[in-house]
Amino acid sequence: MAQRTTLFVNLFVLLTIQLFISGVVSTSFTILNNCDYTVWPGILSNAGVSPLPTTGFVLQKGESKTLTAPTSWGGRFWGRTHCTQDSTTGKFSCVTGDCGSGKVECAGSGATPPATLAEITLDGHGGLDFYDVSLVDGYNIPMMFTPQGGTGQNCTNTGCRADLNDACPSELKVTGVDGGAGVACRSACEAFREPQYCCSGAYGTPDTCKPSSYSEIFKNACPRAYSYAYDDKSSTFTCASVNSYTITFCPSPTTSQKASQPQEGQNTENANPSPHSAGAGSGTGTMIYEGALDEEINGSPSTRPHVLGFQGLAGLISVTLAIWQLWKPFF
Ligand SMILES: *[C@@H]1O[C@H](CO)[C@@H](O)[C@H](O)[C@H]1NC(C)=O
Repeated sequence: MAQRTTLFVNLFVLLTIQLFISGVVSTSFTILNNCDYTVWPGILSNAGVSPLPTTGFVLQKGESKTLTAPTSWGGRFWGRTHCTQDSTTGKFSCVTGDCGSGKVECAGSGATPPATLAEITLDGHGGLDFYDVSLVDGYNIPMMFTPQGGTGQNCTNTGCRADLNDACPSELKVTGVDGGAGVACRSACEAFREPQYCCSGAYGTPDTCKPSSYSEIFKNACPRAYSYAYDDKSSTFTCASVNSYTITFCPSPTTSQKASQPQEGQNTENANPSPHSAGAGSGTGTMIYEGALDEEINGSPSTRPHVLGFQGLAGLISVTLAIWQLWKPFF
């Protein structure tokens, strides 16, 4: 009896330690404003995951902020530009990427398109992080998503360095309050609401929804970013064992890229011919995209985790000790 009590006490202690360790293992995100103007990042956590400590803040040019995300966190980052606070009502609003909260914090609201999005799910299928930069909801700011360290075949930076506000076709262009220079570039889906651009209705599958002349403008400028809803194969990246990611607004011109990391534009898609899988979906491009990502995460059996690391180790120790406790009387 005493043996058994000791065993349970031991197990309890070890499980507690394991829980503690798994709670401590986390990923950090550094958001850097490399633009020569102020950016107000917004953050939206996926449904059902605990939010980050902040959902919106200001970054003056050159400033950065580091946030720690819990294990298995998922969500999106974007940049708001040309923001002002109304001097009489106190209401905060932005010309691009506004989340409609009326405040600097977005508090559970997402970006109003057009907005460049950096999306990530930590610790997804096979213990891998899945991330991308998406122009499915349009474009408002150059953005780069860079894993620091980490392993995996396509564990590289992704994003969009190009200034698509200048290159934007006039029918998609959003100009500032003064009507002058472009401040954002709409997706064809948002601009024309046609099923073939939105991958909806009869165009709601990867086979029927093809890139359009508009999405190709985005793809040519930013080969690694999502240009339309079913662009997964060349736009979803995965990493294991990353401790931190950097999200950089206005990454170019920059000389700080690691030489070992392929630059954006050298596409890795051909080196990695994995079967394309995407989910069906309807509604806005972003919704479709999320369905597609889920399918990607749940669908294909892929490499086994490196990420399970600490938790696995603690578990192994618990089990070994438990077996040892059980067999001790016989020695
Ligand atoms: C990266 O790897 C994932 C999982 O193997 C795959 O689905 C995706 O298409 C790859 N992405 C690129 C850009 O090669």
